[in-house]
Amino acid sequence: MIDNRLVIIPIVILAGLGLILVANIYSAPAPGGTGALQKTAVSLQDTPTIAINQSIALPEPDHSTAKTLDDVLLNRRSGRQYQNSALTLPQVSKILWAGQGITNKTTGKRTAPSAMATYPLTLYLAAHNITGLPQGVYAYQPAGHSLVMYEDGAGMSALLQAEGQNSALTAPATIFIVANYTPFAQFGNDMALQSTSIEAGHVAQNVLLMATELNLGGVPMTGYNATSVENALSLDKNHHAIYTIAFGVSQ
Ligand SMILES: Cc1cc2nc3c(=O)[nH]c(=O)nc-3n(C[C@H](O)[C@H](O)[C@H](O)COP(=O)(O)O)c2cc1C
Repeated sequence: MIDNRLVIIPIVILAGLGLILVANIYSAPAPGGTGALQKTAVSLQDTPTIAINQSIALPEPDHSTAKTLDDVLLNRRSGRQYQNSALTLPQVSKILWAGQGITNKTTGKRTAPSAMATYPLTLYLAAHNITGLPQGVYAYQPAGHSLVMYEDGAGMSALLQAEGQNSALTAPATIFIVANYTPFAQFGNDMALQSTSIEAGHVAQNVLLMATELNLGGVPMTGYNATSVENALSLDKNHHAIYTIAFGVSQ
């Protein structure tokens, strides 16, 4: 008779080592980079902040582009290293619109499909270096195409440190996709996880393709401690930080 502990304990140890390996792969410094230096790269600017809950209108997205869908599909690639240059509000406007913008004002339907049109995702923008936007964390409001300040610059810094990957720490902007499980309460957490994860995939691909159209680099990430990020965002138990996307001008 085999003692169950002889089987279970090695499996638990191996699973733990696997998780540590995945976390280390994604937090390792890029070739030629100095991880220790990049880890301290969240730089707080000395700019006036705006009030929590204050709303900022985004410029209307400019939909004129010479690029085709084939062009952007051919060129999308994960980019993890960014120049130390600011993004502009028109760029951020187009990227957020691509993720969750409203495309039919009558129905309220959006760029990305949604299970039962429940729209359970919120995009939080960590604005690290965006011209005309004080550093902070902002919630994107599809209705009105605006941002509402959620956390100040210190909160943004804490959030990026909680995410922890060099890409997020050094990017001028990072989107945190937060899922609300409440609309799926009657179907259970498995269904909530499945639907919101699939939706986040749609949103992230839209964001990454728009970044490519704008000649920016971006990377989607799940290799972070979700509890730390959720605490930094002060989320309740029905909300989960399921995906992040850093983007900026690639080096
Ligand atoms: C669900 C998912 C999670 C990912 N998590 C991370 C991550 O935590 N950190 C990272 O640097 N890249 C992450 N990536 C990016 C992949 O490493 C990348 O897509 C893959 O190497 C293919 O390269 P490409 O995106 O340039 O085509 C993730 C990609 C996906 C789809």
